Order: sequence, then C-alpha cells, then structure tokens
Amino acid sequence: MFAYVSWAHSGGVMQHSKEAKVRISPVLVGLMGSGKSSIGRRLAPCLKVPLVDLDDYIVAKDGRSIADIFKQDGEAFFRQLETRCLREVLGQHAVIATGGGVVLLEENRQLLIAHPPVIWLHASPKFLAKRIVGDSNRPLVAGKKSLAETLKCLQELADVRYPLYEGCADYVLPRGDMRKPEALNSILVFLEQWMLKHPNSSTVTTQVIP
Ligand code: S3P
Repeated sequence: MFAYVSWAHSGGVMQHSKEAKVRISPVLVGLMGSGKSSIGRRLAPCLKVPLVDLDDYIVAKDGRSIADIFKQDGEAFFRQLETRCLREVLGQHAVIATGGGVVLLEENRQLLIAHPPVIWLHASPKFLAKRIVGDSNRPLVAGKKSLAETLKCLQELADVRYPLYEGCADYVLPRGDMRKPEALNSILVFLEQWMLKHPNSSTVTTQVIP
C-alpha cells in the first residue's frame, strides 16, 4: 500500500533502488510562482506517493475558486479554511504543496515544524514577478497589471515571509538558480540525506519499516 523508497546517487542522476527503507511526506513551501505545485508533480512519482496540492484541496472542499473565496469572504476566512485543510492533509502520505501564505499563522508554522521535512523553494521577487505577472487566479497580485507593481507586491510579501519560511524549513532550495530537473535532483539528494539522519523519526509522516 505504501511506497518505500531509497535512492542510489550516481553521476548526478538519482536512481531508484530496490531496497526501500523509509516513508516520507515532504512539504513544499515558498512564495507564489516558486514552483511548489510543478516541482511537487515531478517529485511525487519519484517517491511513489500522490501529490496533494493544498490550494486544490481547499477548492474541492469549499466548492469555490481561491479567487472567489477571497472576493466573497475575504482573506481572513481563507486563512481559517487553509489551516483546517492543512491539518487534514498533513497526516497523509504524500508530497504536499502548500499555498504561499501558509506560514503566516503561528498555528500553521507549528504544524509544519511538526511534520518535517519542510522544503522552502527560495526564489527572489524578481524571478517570481516575471512568472506570475497578470495572473488573475492569484488574488494578492491579480490587481497588479505591470511587472513593476507585481515586483513591489512580491517584495513586500518576501520581507514578511522569508523569515517565516526559514523558521520552518529543513532545507532551502535556491530555486532561482536552477532549472526544474536540477531542482528535483537537489531535493532528492536532500531527502536521501534527511532519511539517513532521521531513521527513527517518530513524526506522523516519517516511519521506519520494521
Ligand atoms: C497565496 C498563495 C496562493 C493561494 C492564495 C494565497 C499567498 O497559492 O494560496 O492565493 O498568500 O501567497 P500559491 O502560492 O500556490 O500561488
């Protein structure tokens, strides 16, 4: 039922090995546009687990788009929903891609810290602004029409959130410097090391096979 995976690292390429040891549920955090969902989609099959995208989970649960939830009920309501859904998904054996603002509430940060490993996809506002300018599905930047406005908004978010991501993260991936395959490989190398260091972890998400 569960996939248990370990890797052999040779020549810069991660390969699955048959001797599997530990099960693991990495959580991806980072500003919007940093690639949490797209890297999560690549990472999940490597670990033979599903990807759970927290935003998609919220949308399925509430029945409205993120944009509509923000528009109709406001950000505070969205954050409550986000916390409730985070609690539900963190118990699952999966790769979990969170929304960029998940670290804002102390309660969420404590939940994340209790469910390692947490991986921060670190990217500069400049890198991200080009990727998300004009995206109407992201309410916090939807009104920003120009690159400069989007950049300013992201800079403000980064000023508040970078220390919060850092406080939760077991690993910081310098996303801006890497293409996706390279980023994926770095995460796999980190996870292999992390599992070696935590063979007896008692967290919900990381267990050693008897
Ligand atoms: C948000 C990021 C979004 C989504 C919501 C709020 C944020 O997720 O949760 O629009 O506060 O940064 P992504 O990071 O997947 O875009």
